[in-house]
Amino acid sequence: MVSLTELQVDRWPVRKPLSRGEADALTREIMVLKKQLNAVVLAHNYQVPEIQEVADFVGDSLGLSQQAASTDADVIVFCGVHFMAETAKILNPGKIVVLPDKDAGCSLEESCPAEKLRALQQTNPNFYTVTYINCSAGVKALSDVICTSGNAVKIVNACPPERDLLFVPDENLGAWVTEQTGRPMTLWRGNCYAHVEFQRESLLLVTRQFPEAKVVVHPESLREVRDLADMVCSTEKMITYCKTNAARQFVVVTESGIIHRMQKECPGKEFICAPSVDVMRAPTDPCRCSECKFMKMNTLAKVRDCMKNLAPRLELPSELIARARLPIDRMLEISARPG
Ligand code: 13P
Ligand code: SF4
Repeated sequence: MVSLTELQVDRWPVRKPLSRGEADALTREIMVLKKQLNAVVLAHNYQVPEIQEVADFVGDSLGLSQQAASTDADVIVFCGVHFMAETAKILNPGKIVVLPDKDAGCSLEESCPAEKLRALQQTNPNFYTVTYINCSAGVKALSDVICTSGNAVKIVNACPPERDLLFVPDENLGAWVTEQTGRPMTLWRGNCYAHVEFQRESLLLVTRQFPEAKVVVHPESLREVRDLADMVCSTEKMITYCKTNAARQFVVVTESGIIHRMQKECPGKEFICAPSVDVMRAPTDPCRCSECKFMKMNTLAKVRDCMKNLAPRLELPSELIARARLPIDRMLEISARPG
């Protein structure tokens, strides 16, 4: 059994942190490049703090796609993972979209190749495909509507009642949406490798240690973990919840990059990263932070480089852009509806 004192040891990321001087110099270069290029820097909540600090907007997948849809910048610098930059390109075919590391993928995207989805769709002509934004442009092009964790419930509630819903590619998000909406769905068997590492038993240890803390859980997590939550929601809604809730302590069950904004926007409150390994089974490695290895491929130096070189750059065939755009536009339209 792991002692609670042992659990308190913070095993913060092994990445070598930038010195203040290095970070400041890179930040200055990025600010100059932003002006020269008329560029906007968009960053996901999971990015490292120094990237969040140079960004013009930091948010969840929904907020980022809304920003990408409305920007008048000439260049979009997308600090997140590949499918996010791809979505920005689909929404802005005429603009230059660059990303710090083109290999920053996603286990959900990997789990769902377009040809396998097409084969499943062919088994039921009444399928209506609701696709989590964490997928390739090819999968988006096969979808009826896209959703994010921030709007999935609203999107599913707006789906035609006479159709059989097929939800891809996150089975955990899909199961949670069914719990919220009562709408049965066929679920693709994909998951987020980082969120399924959160285990019920280790989370219970933390909640016993912090009995006053509210527990916020991302819906990509397993059901038995979600069941321990005070709030299940997207990363952006987590920040709003922590800001507005009277509690002083929060156990955060998602990627640890989000803690930066939480600490910044909720002064005086304490955030505890849930352990990302099962401490009952791996007592010598009770890591307190979960990191998405893909999100953490981006560095401040790579942000500067992609702006300097205008590469890696997102390019997609125009017919693919046209097909993938329809379900994204449908999502944005439903999301903007009141209620
Ligand atoms: P949100 O920020 O939209 O909640 O998504 C989490 C995520 O895992 C993105 O890859
Ligand atoms: Fe994909 Fe999970 Fe990383 Fe999000 S946290 S980008 S879902 S692997």
